[in-house]
Amino acid sequence: MNVKIAVCGKGGVGKTMVSGTLARLLGRQGTKVLAVDADPNNTLYLSLGVPFEVAEKIVPLTENEELVQERTGMEVGRAFGGMFKLNPRVDDLAAKFGVPAPDNVTLLVAGTVQIGGSGCMCPAGALLKALIRHLIVGSGEAFVMDMEAGIENLGRGTTRGMDALIIVVEPGYGAITTVGRIQKLAQDIGVDRVLAVANKVTGEKDRKVVEAALVERGVPLLGVIPLDEGLHEAGLLGKAPLDHVPKGPAMEAIRGILRELRSHLS
Ligand SMILES: Nc1ncnc2c1ncn2[C@@H]1O[C@H](COP(=O)(O)OP(=O)(O)OP(=O)(O)O)[C@@H](O)[C@H]1O
Ligand SMILES: [Mg+2]
Repeated sequence: MNVKIAVCGKGGVGKTMVSGTLARLLGRQGTKVLAVDADPNNTLYLSLGVPFEVAEKIVPLTENEELVQERTGMEVGRAFGGMFKLNPRVDDLAAKFGVPAPDNVTLLVAGTVQIGGSGCMCPAGALLKALIRHLIVGSGEAFVMDMEAGIENLGRGTTRGMDALIIVVEPGYGAITTVGRIQKLAQDIGVDRVLAVANKVTGEKDRKVVEAALVERGVPLLGVIPLDEGLHEAGLLGKAPLDHVPKGPAMEAIRGILRELRSHLS
C-alpha cells in the first residue's frame, strides 16, 4: 500500500522527527519511499540516518539555479515580468537528485520558495509545484514530505492524490490555533483528510488538552508520542532517533501511528 502524506505543524513540534521515522518504518515494510524535504532549513537527513558528510553536499532543487533555469527557461531571481514554463519537466528529478538513505528510502531535498498570493509565481516555485504534483500523482512510490511551518508552498493542483496532511501538535493552547489554521489552509488547497499526531506529551493532562483541541475541530488523533529523553540524546549525538533508540517510547508510538494511519487510509 502506498502512503502519500505531508507532515506539517508549528516550528519545533517534531515534524522532521515524525516524517523521517514514518518514512523509514514504511520502507522497512517493503515500500519504496521517497522522503521529500520541503523545509528551507533542511534537516530531514538527520532523522533518516543520512550522514552529515553526505547531506552537506546536497543542493536543494529550488536553489539549483542551473537546473531551474534549464527547466523553466528563466534565471532564478528574475522572477517577475519574464516568461517561464509553468509545467517544466520534472519526471527525472527524483532519480537524478535523490540520495539513497537507509531502509529503502530516497531523500530528495526540494527546498522551498515563498509563493505569495494567488497569481504570484516564480520559476523555482513552478519547478517545485510541478515536482510535487508529479510525485504525488505520477509516482508509484510512497511519499512523505517534511514541510516548513505553514503549508503555503502546497497549492491547489499540487495536492490532488495526496492521502493526508498530518499535523504534529504539542500540548498547549497553541495546539488549538495551529490545528485550526492548518485545517483552513488544507481546505483552501483541497486536501480532504487532515489527521493529527500529538508529540512531546508528558502525561494525562497534556493528552487531554490536545485531545480536546482536536475533538473541537473534528480532527482524528493518530497517536500520542511521549516526551522521550532518548530523542534529545540522539539529537546531541547527531544520530537518527530510529538508530539511537529504536525501542524507545517515541519510536514505539510512531509504529502505532503508522498502523493507525494505514487503517485510516484503507
Ligand atoms: N517526543 C520527543 N521527545 C523529546 N524530544 C523530541 C521529541 N520530538 C522531537 N524532539 C526534539 O525536538 C526538536 C525538534 O524536533 P524536529 O526537528 O523534528 O521538529 P520540527 O517541527 O521539524 O522543527 P522545525 O520547525 O525547526 O523544522 C529536536 O531536537 C527533537 O529531537
Ligand atoms: Mg523540521
